[in-house]
Amino acid sequence: MSLVLRAAERRDVPELLVIEQSQFPEPWSRGMLLDELSQVATRRYVVAVEEGRIVGYCGVMTVVDELHVNTIAAAPGEEGRGVATRLLADALDDAAARGLVRATLEVAVSNVRAQALYQRFGFAPVGVRKNYYARTREDALVMWADLPARRVEPRES
Ligand SMILES: CC(C)(COP(=O)(O)OP(=O)(O)OC[C@H]1O[C@@H](n2cnc3c(N)ncnc32)[C@H](O)[C@@H]1OP(=O)(O)O)[C@@H](O)C(=O)NCCC(=O)NCCS
Repeated sequence: MSLVLRAAERRDVPELLVIEQSQFPEPWSRGMLLDELSQVATRRYVVAVEEGRIVGYCGVMTVVDELHVNTIAAAPGEEGRGVATRLLADALDDAAARGLVRATLEVAVSNVRAQALYQRFGFAPVGVRKNYYARTREDALVMWADLPARRVEPRES
């Protein structure tokens, strides 16, 4: 896999919208994505590009000495190839290099795939936010990791 990671740009928004709409029950709108990309002081959005096509993206936010993972997704049909692993490793490495000490995120309680990804990076569940997702009313698991995160290789199956 020849993935290149680079900063997301406004011109990427149409491709990011396709990912949002196919991968999330409550997809972000064009306006929300543009707003996130415009907040350069606190946000860091990175796309994974393969042969000119965006195959995944990750957006994080810095709050004082903590990193919040706002969003991460592989493009439809690109799951299970290590795209999110690359993106999350990049985001956490960058955060640690900037001196951030913890990382947190919310994930739907039913999203066991994403939870497995986060656990490989040392994220552990610390609580539940009830009815976190507006449309589905699903609860969110709150997970935290200490930085620098240490990636644990998945077991051979
Ligand atoms: C959850 C999600 C982000 C994971 O992205 P992904 O790119 O498929 O994740 P990865 O490929 O890095 O890791 C997933 C699996 O691929 C395996 N993998 C990692 N590198 C690999 C590689 N180079 N080749 C093949 N498989 C690989 C991992 O072992 C992992 O296996 P498992 O999850 O079956 O145990 C993706 O499924 C997705 O976009 N879901 C919808 C959006 C979403 O739920 N986002 C999270 C919101 S909190």
